[in-house]
Amino acid sequence: MNYDNILIETHGKVRLVKLNRPQALNALSPELTRELAHALDSFEQDTEVHVVVLTGNEKAFAAGADIKAMKDLTYMQAYKSDFITDTWERITKFRKPTIAAVSGYALGGGCELAMMCDFILAAESAKFGQPEINLGTIPGAGGSQRLTRFVGKSKAMEMVLTARMIDAQEAERCGLVSRVIANDKLIEEALATAQKIAALSMPIVLMAKEAVNHAYEVSLSEGIHFERRLFHSTFGTEDQKEGMNAFIEKRKPIFKNQ
Ligand code: CAA
Repeated sequence: MNYDNILIETHGKVRLVKLNRPQALNALSPELTRELAHALDSFEQDTEVHVVVLTGNEKAFAAGADIKAMKDLTYMQAYKSDFITDTWERITKFRKPTIAAVSGYALGGGCELAMMCDFILAAESAKFGQPEINLGTIPGAGGSQRLTRFVGKSKAMEMVLTARMIDAQEAERCGLVSRVIANDKLIEEALATAQKIAALSMPIVLMAKEAVNHAYEVSLSEGIHFERRLFHSTFGTEDQKEGMNAFIEKRKPIFKNQ
């Protein structure tokens, strides 16, 4: 399928998806989120794809949901179409690793989309915020919940109530992003990080992702129980045997994704 609002680059087993509505600071229109969901569906099926990097451009990762497209929505239209849930949430169900590489603005739905990825790498220029309150609405793509889990109540509440943006350094300090990277190195570093993951055993990577995500869903003891069972199950894979034998034989493992 040809896409009008996203660009896709192939880098071996990594797909770099660029949000591409520069004229609107990559505002997340229904067409864009539909295309993103469609692309993720195809990556999920494609065994050649191991990792997805999601990015925008230097000025904006995404400045939020498209205000022009949603301003006239009625409650019934929003409710009946299950606005946001319908396409945006596809990435939260995506089983393979996703990395958000954020330059410039990640506001409102942009910040929320970045938080739906598995981790966020931020360029020095990155700015994160939940400014919906200025528009007479509230975060609608998980911002009030995910941001609070990332940064804690006090900062999340301040950001959601005042619309204050935080820069990359503050975002790193409060745990919203895993690393800050020089502006001109962001994509290179994000791709290198993705390649590192892509070279590992895919089923084991999926299990690792599933285990970490479980920490957000259940109590500590249930989470540890789940992790233990997944850990046990890795011993049923060829890749665990290969990984541990390669370590002992002082060679690089050759994973077969089995
Ligand atoms: N939706 C639609 N269009 C947007 C947009 C958005 N979220 N953000 C920016 N644009 C458009 C502007 O309307 C403008 O278009 P025109 O040239 O046609 O006027 C173009 O992008 C460039 O924007 P600005 O001229 O405003 O650029 P700036 O550099 O002066 O300001 C900014 C940058 C501070 C990010 C400002 O654009 C801004 O505040 N944007 C809106 C941010 C926002 O409120 N996001 C939350 C949206 S609601 C939401 O996301 C709900 C949810 O939780 C799902």
